[in-house]
Amino acid sequence: MACLFPGFLHGADYNPEQWLSRPDILQEDLRLMKEAHINCVSVGIFSWARLEPEEGRFDLDWLEEIINRLYENGVSTILATPSGARPLWMAHKYPEVLRVSSQLTRNRPGRRHNHCYTSPVYREKVRIIDTKLAERFSRHPAVLLWHLSNELGGQCFCPLCQAAFREWLRKKYGSLDALNEAWWTDFWAHRYTDWSQVEAPVPSGETEVHGLNLDWKRFVTHQTVDFARWERDAVKAVNPQLPVTTNHGESYESINYFRYRDVVDIASWDSYPLWGKDPDEAETGQQTAFAHDVIRSIKRAPFLMMESSPSATNWQEVSRLRQPGVQMLAAMQAVAHGSNSVQYFQWRKSRGSSEKFHGAVVGHDGRSTTRVFQEAAQVGERLERLAPLLGTCPRPQAALLYDWENGWALNDAQGPRNCGMHYLETAMAFHKAFWRLGIGTDIVDMDGSLEGYRLVAAPMAYLLRGGFAQRLREFVERGGVLLGTYWSGIVNETDLCFLGGVPGDGLSQVFGLESEEIDGLYDGQENSLLPLGGFLPRESYRLFQLCDLVNLNGAQPLAVYGKDFYQGRPALAVNRFGRGKAYYLAARGEQALLNDLIARLCREAGLQPALDGVLPEGVAAVRRDGEPAAVFVQNFRPAPVQVPLNRPYVDFESGAAVEGSLSLSPFQVRILL
Ligand code: GAL
Ligand code: ZN
Repeated sequence: MACLFPGFLHGADYNPEQWLSRPDILQEDLRLMKEAHINCVSVGIFSWARLEPEEGRFDLDWLEEIINRLYENGVSTILATPSGARPLWMAHKYPEVLRVSSQLTRNRPGRRHNHCYTSPVYREKVRIIDTKLAERFSRHPAVLLWHLSNELGGQCFCPLCQAAFREWLRKKYGSLDALNEAWWTDFWAHRYTDWSQVEAPVPSGETEVHGLNLDWKRFVTHQTVDFARWERDAVKAVNPQLPVTTNHGESYESINYFRYRDVVDIASWDSYPLWGKDPDEAETGQQTAFAHDVIRSIKRAPFLMMESSPSATNWQEVSRLRQPGVQMLAAMQAVAHGSNSVQYFQWRKSRGSSEKFHGAVVGHDGRSTTRVFQEAAQVGERLERLAPLLGTCPRPQAALLYDWENGWALNDAQGPRNCGMHYLETAMAFHKAFWRLGIGTDIVDMDGSLEGYRLVAAPMAYLLRGGFAQRLREFVERGGVLLGTYWSGIVNETDLCFLGGVPGDGLSQVFGLESEEIDGLYDGQENSLLPLGGFLPRESYRLFQLCDLVNLNGAQPLAVYGKDFYQGRPALAVNRFGRGKAYYLAARGEQALLNDLIARLCREAGLQPALDGVLPEGVAAVRRDGEPAAVFVQNFRPAPVQVPLNRPYVDFESGAAVEGSLSLSPFQVRILL
């Protein structure tokens, strides 16, 4: 599903239920939206108390009036199901809808995102309201898309969830014996003799059975995604044509987002980078680029940036304002990575309660002359000009492995570094090396296909599952270039160590080596990597944290350790395997090592950077492929910069020829053809 909408969406969360007593303000919103070039809003996310003020009594008329009036004024609707927050009557009448914490106490009614995903009562109440909304609105011409719930996440430890967990385990393992084997429960006499003994891991109970911890996390994802599927099925039962999304938060902890692949028609997320935290915005820009790439990779298709703040947030440590130009930069960055929208939280600042100081397009003053409003309007205008790019999307030929389940397992492993394995940071550091080069990457997990890629970087593939090792093997056999690292192929799907040499599951053959031991270094301790025969441009690179001691078994050494008792042993090696090559980086090193190594491997794999030129520090280039292929050149620094070009380009917006070099003002993004 490449493009669902007639143009790029420019919109915001709109919460008219907070302003029902102020018709003048609702009227003024229509005028202001036009001025800000808003063409869609997300409505109804937290409206349940107004939609069903008493159990079984529904009032959808006010919402219909709002949707109609917006539509008459050129604004379409993304309609939310309201399950992110419940009316108070429900929890008072049916306490089972409330979440139970890991302390095993039930929450009180209130706040939001605190419901049980298993509760039959909650599911039924959600199904009823979703059906009502679908019956009334899912064929309304204004409604473009369903916004299922809001930032689904968290865990519930109630008895219903625990029973569902046991059911899920029963299906997975078939017998208690199989579960005992998979979890290695004879360790510390943890053997289960009855299903009723299986409990979720909680601080006051079991926390040291790694297989249990891992399966619980998998179950939480399963149950959360199943809740989204439940809602999807409810609305699709009425109109199967209307597409659905659910908006993800920027979280790499609790829910494996890749599991939504088959549930949603389009992926979306809420982007709240820490703009203004670092002296320039490049660091934040790169982390945001990674997040955009993750979300696009869920469906390998265009996505939506469902929320972003047009100025400050009010929940980060401090509420930094965006420097002039950063709002446009953030918007164009999202589009560059494949977003077909720029949407804000929220349209109009709330007057009270916990988000009254969160940035919004319209502030408490209600004016359109503000800097924030004007910059949002400029984004809207620009998106209108970009309409010819709507059918395009980045189609990278490099893939980077980031696998949630792998991260859960290796962070829980107890060794080789309990002071930080830094899996996410490692994936981001690899991503940064590609980003600096202007080479696009998809993010794949171990269920993802490797079709179409020429280079795969798979750092710290500790836990192997889902036939991933086999797919890597075939990828290299067919001529692919693979970069693997230390701490790979250590455990199987249930966190049991591979016996008989690692990396396991056949990967030691692919890499032509075995890892015998791994040294965990204290913070501050270092080793060095010394390239052999000028394989990398520098004579030496800093290493730290993790140093793997490998025995080569067919692979050729490309670099050695500079010191310690393993001085002279291989720190980097390559193995020819089938028609391809598998590189193994044995230790964690400084960014320059990844930059130089990945640059070399990209050349070897024949990957073309998005821009034929030289990217200065802090400048990124990302290409949306298709017709026409457009390169978004983004300056994340507060200073002007010249980008040397090796061939002539045309500025997509002005039509002017760009030759020799491209000049970018502070935070400017220019789009080249
Ligand atoms: C999001 C949430 C919004 C709003 C926003 C504030 O995570 O979905 O409802 O709370 O944060 O930044
Ligand atoms: Zn529960």
